[in-house]
Amino acid sequence: MIKLNLTQRALLVAGSAVGALANPLRGDLVATLGETTGTAALNTMRDKMRMNKTGLEILKDRPRVTGDTMDTEYLSSLPANTFGHHYYQFMSSNKLSAQRAETKFVEDEELAYVMTRYRENHDFLHTLTGLGVTVPEEICLKWYEMVQTELPMCALSALFGPIPLSLAEKRLLLSEQIPWGLACGRASAFFMNIYFERELETDINLMRKRYKISLAPRMKGSV
Ligand SMILES: *[C@@H]1O[C@H](CO)[C@@H](O)[C@H](O)[C@H]1NC(C)=O
Repeated sequence: MIKLNLTQRALLVAGSAVGALANPLRGDLVATLGETTGTAALNTMRDKMRMNKTGLEILKDRPRVTGDTMDTEYLSSLPANTFGHHYYQFMSSNKLSAQRAETKFVEDEELAYVMTRYRENHDFLHTLTGLGVTVPEEICLKWYEMVQTELPMCALSALFGPIPLSLAEKRLLLSEQIPWGLACGRASAFFMNIYFERELETDINLMRKRYKISLAPRMKGSV
């Protein structure tokens, strides 16, 4: 954890905002901006977790999603219909590793964990929603995450991420992907209260039904 005084914090917010606006999907600047502006939302997220039995367990256990905790051999051996197998397929077909940016600028250590958990849930959400890693799909997922978490960093990516897209892609975002993100974000269970590590052997469609997470519209316009 890095302690900052007010001036340093303001400079960090400004600097990362400029960088993040120039490229809203660039991981580290968005991460820094997210941490320095997210306190109110993180508090609300923590409270929602404390009020839910599973959320409370997650806050106590503080599970981490890393290359060490996610055993690819085990995941790949799971039956094809399981959440764990789908997660494995998503990660391996996109050549992703479970490692996410470390939380550096959130002072309260429980809130820092909430931020870390939020980040480490991201690929689980890709898996459940069926969204891939193209820019329009990432933006679509950001709309969902924005509704669920109210994190300013999600709003930033959701609003400014589409700028470099083609007209056709923007149209599709407006007509299908954003409406899906808003509706699913409102309808589905609070994802921070899902103990994904305990659902690896659950049928993925059963999970979608239980947590009211619908498949995102097919991304016809994206490459
Ligand atoms: C806790 O949260 C999960 C996931 O959002 C939800 O499915 C479950 O119903 C919640 N439990 C209670 C007791 O509210």
